[in-house]
Amino acid sequence: MIGAGYVGLVSAVCFSEFGWTVTCVDKDHSRLKKLRSGVPPIFEPGLDDLMLRNMKARRLTFSDNLGPAVADADVVFLAVGTPMRRGDGYADLSYVYSAIEELAPHLAGYTVITTKSTVPVGTSREIERRLRELRPDADFSVCSNPEFLREGSAIQDFTHPDRVLIGVDNDDARKVMERVYHPLSLRSAPVVFVSRESAELAKYAANAFLAMKISFINEVSDLCEEVGANVQEVAHAIGKDRRIGDKFLHPGPGYGGSCFPKDVSAIIRTGRENKTPLSLIEQVQTVNEERKLAIAGRIERIVGGSVRGKTIAVLGATFKPNTDDMRDAPSLVIVPMLQERGATIKVYDPEGRDNAASLLPGVIWCETALEAMSDADITTVLTEWNEFRALDLVDAKEVMRGDTLIDMRNVFQCELAHAAGFKYFGIGRGQSLGLEHVTQELETEDMPQAGELKKLAIA
Ligand code: UDX
Repeated sequence: MIGAGYVGLVSAVCFSEFGWTVTCVDKDHSRLKKLRSGVPPIFEPGLDDLMLRNMKARRLTFSDNLGPAVADADVVFLAVGTPMRRGDGYADLSYVYSAIEELAPHLAGYTVITTKSTVPVGTSREIERRLRELRPDADFSVCSNPEFLREGSAIQDFTHPDRVLIGVDNDDARKVMERVYHPLSLRSAPVVFVSRESAELAKYAANAFLAMKISFINEVSDLCEEVGANVQEVAHAIGKDRRIGDKFLHPGPGYGGSCFPKDVSAIIRTGRENKTPLSLIEQVQTVNEERKLAIAGRIERIVGGSVRGKTIAVLGATFKPNTDDMRDAPSLVIVPMLQERGATIKVYDPEGRDNAASLLPGVIWCETALEAMSDADITTVLTEWNEFRALDLVDAKEVMRGDTLIDMRNVFQCELAHAAGFKYFGIGRGQSLGLEHVTQELETEDMPQAGELKKLAIA
């Protein structure tokens, strides 16, 4: 397993739990040090126990030495990062290709090289071309095996997947991959074999579709506010239709994380490059960027037009609960905008502080939700951590200076919040929040980045 990031580490740990012998290779020495001492460098429920168990059983080792790991391997998974390239929104494949160059000299015996990282259509073919050039003598196949795990439920997702998707172009590779995933087939997990191009595109299409569901329900929730409907009732009603499904219909401050923003951007790029603009997906991205920008304005309008001089308690900073991941979290847009508009921000997040501290300069970090809320004029929930649901609203109201509770994740029940004395505002639940629209003509070829839109909205 090349790369001990989220996907690489979780996959390595789970494969070793299936009984395979796995070497996880990474260049980051501080990360390796932690891993070797049995400490996962990421917060992921259940990962630490599983990792330790397999390390003790000697099925899982960590190394910075790619050579012997590759020479011994039947399958090499590439799980290095494919971040969004600055400027053009395309997936940056430099880590993938440098891993290929490094591993090429060590290939020995028949080896299947498979991408686990999300890579654009055509990458497997290109990897194969490069490897054949580097090692015309070597016996190998290149596959695509995109990973669909979600942060926060990664172990469950890996071990009980809706499907395992494998793109292959020959029977030998297929047999090896069937064997690797045999422990899951035994549990009746569908293992779907398709072409390499289909596997590569399916991963992007899946994430774009899920992002579309979120932007869809976010827009519907805005309409609910204007017409007096309740988005949770609407989502429940439409979700009962199996063609629609009830998942991914929770409105919020916009999607974030390490995958959706990057993958939506990359598929848009692929569409443009192939002269097939994906206008629907482009709009999904625009709706999401504008949403994050509009949230600060909503908060201002709720409190009468300005947050200047006000103290705002922010509950939750990570892009979603059960993770310490801050990548593309809506809080990274919303908090600086509130600061810019003159508010003092106190933040509590159960796991995100270490990663968020340098990204959110000037905020006051707190150890508990109540500490963040004490003396605050306004409290807003940005991430739906479970512990917020159990908050005693009467106590919470008491410690606050003000009485405004703006719940961007619909964590609380309106009635209970009102009973505790709060002026409560959920999302899409019948109260008009006065939407702020960022109107800007978007050139398809020159789409502003979130930061540019942010400046525009602040101006
Ligand atoms: C996602 C995909 O689900 C996963 O299959 C892929 O492998 C990686 O990207 P992840 O980024 O871990 O996983 O989180 P996910 O649970 O999908 O949530 C993504 C974002 O959407 C979060 O910001 C979340 O808050 C938001 N979201 C999700 C909503 O706003 N509403 C919803 O109904 C669901």
